[in-house]
Amino acid sequence: MKLFEVYPLFDVTPVRAKDVNVFDENGVQYLDLYGGHAVISIGHSHPTYVQNLTQQLNHIGFYSNAVQNPLQSQLAKQLAKASNCNDYELFMCSSGAEANENALKLASFHTNKASVIAFENSFHGRTSAAVASTDNPKIIAPLNAQQNVEFLALGDLSTVEKTLQKGTTCAIIIECIQGVGGLDESTTAFYQGLEVLCNKYETVLIVDEVQSGFGRSGDFFAFQKHGITPHIISMAKGMGNGFPVGGILIHPQIEATYGLLGTTFGGNHLACAATLSVLEVLDAQKLMENAQQMEVYFRNKAKDVPQIVQLKGRGLMLGVEFDFSVAALRKTLLFKHKIFTGSSKNPNLIRILPPLTIKEEHIDLFFNALKQEL
Ligand SMILES: Cc1ncc(COP(=O)(O)O)c(C=O)c1O
Repeated sequence: MKLFEVYPLFDVTPVRAKDVNVFDENGVQYLDLYGGHAVISIGHSHPTYVQNLTQQLNHIGFYSNAVQNPLQSQLAKQLAKASNCNDYELFMCSSGAEANENALKLASFHTNKASVIAFENSFHGRTSAAVASTDNPKIIAPLNAQQNVEFLALGDLSTVEKTLQKGTTCAIIIECIQGVGGLDESTTAFYQGLEVLCNKYETVLIVDEVQSGFGRSGDFFAFQKHGITPHIISMAKGMGNGFPVGGILIHPQIEATYGLLGTTFGGNHLACAATLSVLEVLDAQKLMENAQQMEVYFRNKAKDVPQIVQLKGRGLMLGVEFDFSVAALRKTLLFKHKIFTGSSKNPNLIRILPPLTIKEEHIDLFFNALKQEL
């Protein structure tokens, strides 16, 4: 059977990985500054993660949400402690798109309204309402286009208010640092303004922390820098360090009722063990602090490269912008220097999304390669 070819693949076959490195079938070592698309948070095959998942699998890997699963409550407790989002309630699912679907659906149930405000260059996933809220017409099928979504300019509070005045908006969904879109971030005044407007017009504020969450920005969630209280926070990627797990944190203003949301796989025993391991290692190895320190180091190194036009993002969610298309440079970094990097909607920008365990010596390798090629 042939594979349904939707991915343009690099000709690299990772068969093993350890911390910030992946190895191909010939034992060639690569530096992973991409983290498999911001997924690897605590490092590949971390011993705590491997041990906890193995142990869990030997006990019970899965049972449905029809029975008690104390691991979910344990995870909710640890997540509250790590994120400081103590008042929220947790619903678990299995991917970022699914987290946003549930967030948008919940917003619509809660407000009894149906349209959505999203922002230019947003990315929220590839399913139903999540893809309809993604600013990329190429991946929105006619079926998805039936959803009513308005894309507004990031930072334009007055147009947001004008749109909310129609009284039909169930949710504003926003990435506090844009990922796929190219690392843009607005001002604290803008995010705080959104919160005020959402409360004024009975609209749910959803912050999409699928990529920026779980310590990647140097804060547990990127919105926390702006001192806002979203109604729903969506999470995935770094949450499971590779195990497919996602979730939403829901403000108690929004009430649960039986059957409102549901999923077969969400919050299963292995997913909980993976996320609990991530939280344990984030804390034990002080990885959020490391993300902050490595950002400072990266920014200092970037000062020595005059071709860099701008360095965007925060923590270990960074975008290095040039005044030329980076496609060829990224290929050279991968095939000649054995360094994985990420792309974005902005063709001139290299995305840096490494495991949060990265050290100065790895950043040096990147800059040495960059200097050689520029
Ligand atoms: C901000 C953001 N939201 C949602 C998603 C979708 O997540 P998933 O691919 O797990 O469905 C992504 C994926 O890149 C993302 O970056």
